[in-house]
Amino acid sequence: MPEKYITGIRVLDEVILNGGFDSGSLVAVAGHPGSGKTSFASMVAYYNGIRDRKILYLTFQESKKKLFSHMKKLGLDLEGLEREGLLTFIRLPVISSPEAAEDVINKISGLIYESKADVLIVDSVNPLLEALDSSVDRRGVLQNFFYSVPELIGGLAVIIVEIPYGESNPRLIGGVDFVADAVIVLHHRLEGDYISRFLEIRKLRGHEIPVAKFPFTIKTGTGIRLWAPLRLEEIPSPSEGKRYRPPCSTVGRYLGDMLPGMITYTSYPADARVITPIIFMGVAALYNRAKTMFISFTYSPGEIWELMGEVFKGYMGFGDKSGMLVNMIKKYVKIYSINVNSYSSSELYSRILDVLNEEKPEIVVFVGFHSLYNKMVKDMKDDLLNNILLYLKYNKIYSVILSSYTGEKQYWWTADTADSVIRYSFIVSNGSNSTRLVKYIYAWRKGREPVLLDVEAGNTCCDEIKELLEKMLRESG
Ligand SMILES: Nc1ncnc2c1ncn2[C@@H]1O[C@H](COP(=O)(O)OP(=O)(O)O)[C@@H](O)[C@H]1O
Ligand SMILES: [Mg+2]
Repeated sequence: MPEKYITGIRVLDEVILNGGFDSGSLVAVAGHPGSGKTSFASMVAYYNGIRDRKILYLTFQESKKKLFSHMKKLGLDLEGLEREGLLTFIRLPVISSPEAAEDVINKISGLIYESKADVLIVDSVNPLLEALDSSVDRRGVLQNFFYSVPELIGGLAVIIVEIPYGESNPRLIGGVDFVADAVIVLHHRLEGDYISRFLEIRKLRGHEIPVAKFPFTIKTGTGIRLWAPLRLEEIPSPSEGKRYRPPCSTVGRYLGDMLPGMITYTSYPADARVITPIIFMGVAALYNRAKTMFISFTYSPGEIWELMGEVFKGYMGFGDKSGMLVNMIKKYVKIYSINVNSYSSSELYSRILDVLNEEKPEIVVFVGFHSLYNKMVKDMKDDLLNNILLYLKYNKIYSVILSSYTGEKQYWWTADTADSVIRYSFIVSNGSNSTRLVKYIYAWRKGREPVLLDVEAGNTCCDEIKELLEKMLRESG
């Protein structure tokens, strides 16, 4: 088995690369300025360096002082590596002619021999490519050079390619991509005040690529962190045969038990938002003693608990006992609220997966899912939201999506991913001597015909829940 060279980016190493790049690999990392190329290269340098590999870091870009201090913020102590003699940093001279470019190539070869490096980093190859741009032959020289580099070092070579602003493709990669074993393109874009970042795998020899684009974040202390849709190693053992009972038989009759991995979508008009589903899921958590996570995009945790208390107190008539009920529910329900406007799409995605990984709930309730849907910019919406829902399914989490109706597309996208749908609507009914507003509940479950429940069914359900809560209050003493 060939030796592996990691990138230090966990999901990339473990999930996508099966342990890392093989020795003898040439990896091209391309992207616009600010997309994270230098950070990526520094991750590779640092995480191989601390494994006692010798690193040769060549740059036409920033000074050693600048690079070291920037990367230190990302948790990468390149200075420490240099002190231990594991890293050689060399700033290459400006290239002004094709001859100078050839000189630099010879210089690089010499440095590789001298330093006995296992890992070579060139940030970036653009000055070389640009100097040779006019001559096809000379570009061939460069191509041949990079072709021989992995063999020269017998380890890993990472070459960075700058994509100028306004261009979407690494045109200047100029044939280097043919000889590279992997081509990784880093993307970033501004969404409001926030940056969304994606890592795209364009080419990866000898690997199956499950998904081509992965969101990532660059953060102080942790550096680059990549987000895979599924973290297979963290999937808990499937709760065989486990099912959650709805706290009222009406819902049970039409929608059946709530099964691990199933998604229920509850939609209501944006101008007639109902809170009963929130109460329903709180009671369901208590009734089933199921670890439940509310992820709210609209209400704060305080507001949800207050609403719940008010409904118990007034509408359900529990009076002073309502606080006790809320506390009983709090034993099973944790509320996490996220303001969608404070994050970019990829950050939102990573936060949600983070909190799910941390809490490992049995049931997840998304409150105000439409906010998340509408926030995620158009072309990445399907990928990111699908990945979250897939994650929930694979991890055998029963999920409930509570969402205002904010458009046909949003409704049908969500309904299409769900296993059961509950849709509230209000209809104006003209009686003989009065005009009333009548609430209807449309209910559908996979494999069954949809049904229309009227207001009576809702009332019955409410009575049943009340009885159930009274019973649980008595039992708790
Ligand atoms: N400590 C940090 N915290 C958060 N973001 C950072 C940090 N350091 C760098 N970044 C982000 O990384 C970007 C630059 O990354 P860099 O690897 O230098 O990109 P490139 O080499 O592609 O130009 C910066 O624009 C910044 O947004
Ligand atoms: Mg850079």
